[in-house]
Amino acid sequence: MSGKDAFTTEEVAGLKSSDKITLVRARGSLVWDDTGKEYIDCTAQAWSNNLGANDPRVVEAAIAQTREMMHIRPNFDSLPRRALVKKLREIAPGNLNQIGFALHGSLAGEMAMKLAVKNRPGAQNLIVLQDGYHGRSLATLGASWPHPNNPFLPIQPRFTRVPHPYPYRSRLGMDPEMESQLCLGLLEDAIVKGVDGPVAAVMMEPIQGNGGHIEFPRSYYKGVREICDRHGILFILDEVQTGFGRMGTMWASEYYDVLPDIIVFGKGVGGGFPLAGILADDRLTWFDEGEDALTFGHFPVSLAAGVATIEAIQADNLCAKAKESGEYATQRLLEMQKRHKLIGEVRCPGLMVSFELVTDREKKTPARHESQEVYRLGVERGVLFGESRYAGLGNLIKIKPPLDIERPLLARALDVLDEVLGIIEENVK
Ligand SMILES: Cc1ncc(COP(=O)(O)O)c(C=O)c1O
Repeated sequence: MSGKDAFTTEEVAGLKSSDKITLVRARGSLVWDDTGKEYIDCTAQAWSNNLGANDPRVVEAAIAQTREMMHIRPNFDSLPRRALVKKLREIAPGNLNQIGFALHGSLAGEMAMKLAVKNRPGAQNLIVLQDGYHGRSLATLGASWPHPNNPFLPIQPRFTRVPHPYPYRSRLGMDPEMESQLCLGLLEDAIVKGVDGPVAAVMMEPIQGNGGHIEFPRSYYKGVREICDRHGILFILDEVQTGFGRMGTMWASEYYDVLPDIIVFGKGVGGGFPLAGILADDRLTWFDEGEDALTFGHFPVSLAAGVATIEAIQADNLCAKAKESGEYATQRLLEMQKRHKLIGEVRCPGLMVSFELVTDREKKTPARHESQEVYRLGVERGVLFGESRYAGLGNLIKIKPPLDIERPLLARALDVLDEVLGIIEENVK
């Protein structure tokens, strides 16, 4: 078959648009830039390549579907849609068997909000957590951590934000369990007295990814479920980052043993293709025609890629691999913590690995500049670490590579980390 090759640097010569690294190629956990430099990708490209980049099974499935039919509007059904629904139902927790698709996590989040409001007629409020992140569409931006000088505020839906536990920095130095109970109490207060009119849903991430990798005590998840049940409110879990094996289990819901009414998924499911959606409880009334239809919402190439991705995650046992690699990375980080004062707290589970950098362990002073240095020196040495530039305290480094990263690559990335932490600490002496 004849076809055009990938773009070459010559074709775009003279058109360097920014000072960002230009990536041209990826395989598994490795990416290359336009100068040929190789990097170990500890970001899995926004934590989306749960399966290593360009997996041939996904590429082949997408090409096969592209050859048959590339675009099918949602007024029609398609074979890849039916196959993906079947596959998702196999792995969906509990009775979350109703499935809707979108191409972005943000729009899937909005789909979840719409379904919640549809099923709680008259409810006027949605509750989200401070430091939560659900995307950058108009509505999800409003539901995400406060954006300073947010220019879109006048036309955004309003959400009620409630405080959440932050075990490493618990309020008044409280025991994390006590803080969890305090925050549950504040959530219930907000539902009963803090809002005008009924609440449709509480929406939260299991671990706040973008907002600072904050995991809550286990009691918090069950507590939110109980409060929602007590008040007839739907519980939406945004698993865009945590789904499809990242936590060492298929879902965070499984990991925390808590069943929400709606799961929002995205990122890892498409194997690199844009794909997102929701899993909703059987008992919820689904959308009527026209309430949730996007031109490319059932993009068959992405749906076919999704089926191949989930099959590969299962065939390659990636949940178990994420658990093993996560334990290895965490142990290495805990060992480094003994030698590097900059490491404040190491967090997991699975390959949702991160650590906070602090200049003073007692005061837990966020080491923002040093975190940027870790990123910069990592790039120089061929490792892309995840950073937290936006929300949170700006002092987090994330290690969230593809779940099938080979051990020598993960070990090399951690060696580089060890080295750059040493350099940074040496420079501030
Ligand atoms: C938890 C969570 N929800 C939603 C989103 C939004 O997904 P997308 O960028 O695909 O719209 C993200 C993206 O980072 C996310 O981390």
